Amino acid sequence: MRTALLVPAAGSGTRLGAARPKAFVPLAGRPLLWHALRGAVRTGAVDAVVIAAPDALIGEAARIAAEAVGEHPCAVEVVPGADDRAGSVAAALAAVPSAEHVLVHDAARCLTPPAVHLRVLRALRAGAEAVVPVLPVTDTVRTVEAGLGTPTSAGGELLAGSLDRSALRRVQTPQGFSREVLFRAHALHHEDPDPAATDDAGLAARLGAQVVGVPGDESALKITYPLDLRIAALLLEDPQL
Ligand code: C5P
Repeated sequence: MRTALLVPAAGSGTRLGAARPKAFVPLAGRPLLWHALRGAVRTGAVDAVVIAAPDALIGEAARIAAEAVGEHPCAVEVVPGADDRAGSVAAALAAVPSAEHVLVHDAARCLTPPAVHLRVLRALRAGAEAVVPVLPVTDTVRTVEAGLGTPTSAGGELLAGSLDRSALRRVQTPQGFSREVLFRAHALHHEDPDPAATDDAGLAARLGAQVVGVPGDESALKITYPLDLRIAALLLEDPQL
């Protein structure tokens, strides 16, 4: 098997405030997970899909995946997710021991266009060890002391340094890796957890892997808050998507 898609979909989605875990929340009548899988399998470049789902929704995830994969020749497996995202990715990775390349794609980035998956894969196939889709930062970004946001007597919080936004990138998914690099990255994280790690490329960088950025896409927004769901619904009305 050449390319496997790993989809962590076991988050609770507390910030979305929906009645169901986030990946199973409907968008235009279909779960976020269905949309996320559809964009990836439409590339025709994915040989296997592994979803990490909440224990109680493993059967439902398998049904959603079968529907999203449709006629594409692509194997599907659903594994139980873990307490954190890294654990869910590691569980999915264990199910594809023979893959050459893996794409790790958050179910929450449900409208990622196939072209983004293909850009990531192209860089991987050209020899990159770790690839992420990125976008420029448009807001000014400031830091707070020790990440705590110390309150002031004037109200609000004390701001510290300013970051040069021209040197910053917003990172999306799918993130692509050679399987071996991702496996070693998760093994290191398991042995010596990095509490600040929020994505797989960060774990791979700890091994010394070079992380390559390719252009992302604004429509690959991560559904986190209710407003994101409303934006995604509007995007789906775009016939170009
Ligand atoms: O919480 P956040 O939006 O950062 O989660 C990103 C992705 O990781 C989501 O698709 C979510 O379902 C998944 N996740 C997971 N297992 C967890 C926590 C999050 O698969 N324990």
